[in-house]
Amino acid sequence: MIAETRIPVVVAPMAGGPTTPELVVAAAEAGAFGFLAAALVTPDRLRALIAETRRGTTGPFGVNIFTLSRESAADVDSYRDRVLADAERYGVLLGDPDWDDDHYAAKVDVVVEERVPVVSFTFGLPRPTDVERLRAAGTQVVITVTTPAEARAAAAAGADVLCVQGPAAGGHRSVFTDDPAHPSGAPAYDLLPLLRLVAAETDLPLIAAGGLVHGADIAAVLAAGAVAAQLGTAFLRSPEAGTSRAHRTALAAADRETTVTRAFSGRPARGLVNQFITDHGAAAPAAYPNVNNLTKPLRAASTAADDPESMSLWAGQSYPLAREAPTAEILATLMAQAREAVAALTARFPA
Ligand SMILES: Cc1cc2nc3c(=O)[nH]c(=O)nc-3n(C[C@H](O)[C@H](O)[C@H](O)COP(=O)(O)O)c2cc1C
Repeated sequence: MIAETRIPVVVAPMAGGPTTPELVVAAAEAGAFGFLAAALVTPDRLRALIAETRRGTTGPFGVNIFTLSRESAADVDSYRDRVLADAERYGVLLGDPDWDDDHYAAKVDVVVEERVPVVSFTFGLPRPTDVERLRAAGTQVVITVTTPAEARAAAAAGADVLCVQGPAAGGHRSVFTDDPAHPSGAPAYDLLPLLRLVAAETDLPLIAAGGLVHGADIAAVLAAGAVAAQLGTAFLRSPEAGTSRAHRTALAAADRETTVTRAFSGRPARGLVNQFITDHGAAAPAAYPNVNNLTKPLRAASTAADDPESMSLWAGQSYPLAREAPTAEILATLMAQAREAVAALTARFPA
């Protein structure tokens, strides 16, 4: 399904606001493939988002679901004490740092019942019975991986397609196991070596993601064996995305570094450095979604105040090159750049 779109670009699922039905519709109508982000919304809301997308396009699209396994929530209490003063400054109470599975099973039910053409999973493997049900419903199953070992596990779990995510990616790294010994959720394989290593082991179609923002990047990953490139950050400034005002302003200014942090959610994610990360990043425990639930009111207050310093400003390493333009125009530019890159390269490889 994803390998057959007119344009080999996947508009990434971006939970927490940026992904909207408008963005997914714009992708589909332009011949690309878009994903709705099911994370952090209720199953009923997911059903409504699917219906809204279907009102805008008859084209195919996907739904992305987080697969969460129970992890230790060590040190969440001391982290809560640390960030308390930040919440007081915004006049909000912190959230309860509880564990939950983000309604995983009910969201799989929605995808099966709605016969969504493609589902992608992030953070781990879906349950084997779910893979069977989804495939029986005609849904293609994508599993996001960040290492060759995760790719092997995903292939064994019955994935139809692998989304191969490199460490330059914006937002959460899809590491299956978050290792607190490594600040960025290592081991981190760069995208091209990872693509090559995974392609050498499996015949499954591969989607490449992470730091791709130019048509030449798309040509590069397709040349390395991918069937499509998944881009998130490139679309954050499009009018169809639901990116907040403070986030857009920070992206446009392009004057911050990106870093990988657990500060906001308890899982490694790449975003623009701000005061909250500087103050708490080093102390944040590996406890998702406990930390995400804890900081939710604080992030919401920071967003409502148009203050970029206490909200997650997820962005990939290439974000200074992301443009403000309609999604269809961004896609057309990417395709023109890719054609130009391929033409220029062909001349460099004489027979
Ligand atoms: C704001 C934002 C939110 C994201 N949310 C999700 C998500 O909900 N599910 C997911 O699988 N990936 C998510 N990602 C990661 C993307 O799927 C993809 O791997 C990433 O955007 C690729 O790197 P790039 O941003 O440099 O293009 C998110 C990325 C961003 C920038």
